[in-house]
Amino acid sequence: MTRAQYINLGRSGLKVSRLILGTWYLPTLPELDSYGVRRINEEATLRLWRKAVDMGVNTIDTANRYHGAIAPVPVTHVGYVERLLGRFLKTVDRDSLVIATKVRFRMGNGPNDEGLSRKHILKAVKDSLERLQTGYIDLYQAHGPDPSTPLEETMRTLDYLVKEGLVHYVGCSNFQAWMVSEALAVSQRLGLVEFVSVQPLYNMLQRDAEKELFPLVREKGLGVICYSPLAQGLLAGRYLGGRAQDARASYSPSVNPLLTERNLQIVEQLAVMAKEKGVTLAQLSLAWLLHQPEVTAPIIGATKPEQLEENLQALEVKLSAEDLKRINEILERHPQQ
Ligand SMILES: NC(=O)c1ccc[n+]([C@@H]2O[C@H](COP(=O)([O-])OP(=O)(O)OC[C@H]3O[C@@H](n4cnc5c(N)ncnc54)[C@H](OP(=O)(O)O)[C@@H]3O)[C@@H](O)[C@H]2O)c1
Repeated sequence: MTRAQYINLGRSGLKVSRLILGTWYLPTLPELDSYGVRRINEEATLRLWRKAVDMGVNTIDTANRYHGAIAPVPVTHVGYVERLLGRFLKTVDRDSLVIATKVRFRMGNGPNDEGLSRKHILKAVKDSLERLQTGYIDLYQAHGPDPSTPLEETMRTLDYLVKEGLVHYVGCSNFQAWMVSEALAVSQRLGLVEFVSVQPLYNMLQRDAEKELFPLVREKGLGVICYSPLAQGLLAGRYLGGRAQDARASYSPSVNPLLTERNLQIVEQLAVMAKEKGVTLAQLSLAWLLHQPEVTAPIIGATKPEQLEENLQALEVKLSAEDLKRINEILERHPQQ
């Protein structure tokens, strides 16, 4: 059985598994709840997480806002995934795991129920700790920028959380490079805790992070834990030859914009290459990410145990210079618009 490998998160001493387990979408049941949202298959989810941990995955990424089955998440459902993860953490050695969660998006209907203000972060962290049934969060990430709050206020609050021991490391997600740079400068100027990692969208089809974020990452030694590494299933071949009935596109609108002629052509060509190499398309796609020097660890999504196993085997896939050149040629034939 393939076991996960470990790597330092940026310049920090924290060791994360080279594949991180995501919790945005979870195994679901066919029926809808009274709000019209697909219900989570809790038992299947707990089994999936257990399997990941048993296979050596030590890092789990979540967010206070995740519900697990629909986007955008109704405010009535926020916190659901953290609560389920809290139940899971009671069944494992919590201290051996790295739990990453996030704050930023709307958690209620009031004016202070979202954002990166001191007031919202202090409430959000308390709520996340309660839902997760843990005394600390390993990596607390700003889920996105909040232009209405001064960065100084946000970084001072995060610094306070670290000093209190409630949070061990801090990072950010969906920040443009200049925002990360500004945040690092604020921390340095005021002697506050600094972001150790960024969490951008990054995969073979969506490579914006390479333009400005990755040069900054190299300069500052930031960790990169990238999300949607399989473009929500496209790079696993989930949409080759139509849509499977149980695929994410059948219940989430977030996949549709990805189903373009360009993307499907790339995926077809990559699938041919994967077959020739004797690996699956998902494994080729994850191995490509693992070969990018800036990438610390892709955050994988899986709704089935077979997907999880297949994806973890990507850790064993070696890509030669020739393989990487061939992939590059395929991608360059279809540049991102
Ligand atoms: N910071 C942010 O704003 C942000 C945004 C998005 C995600 N994230 C994080 O990143 C994690 C991963 O994102 P993601 O779920 O979009 O990742 P992804 O790996 O791009 O997509 C996962 C989906 O691909 C399909 N899949 C995965 N492995 C497969 C395999 N071996 N064979 C066939 N299909 C396979 C499954 O879809 P089906 O269910 O259709 O089979 C699965 O749900 C999330 O869970 C979350 O923790 C963060």
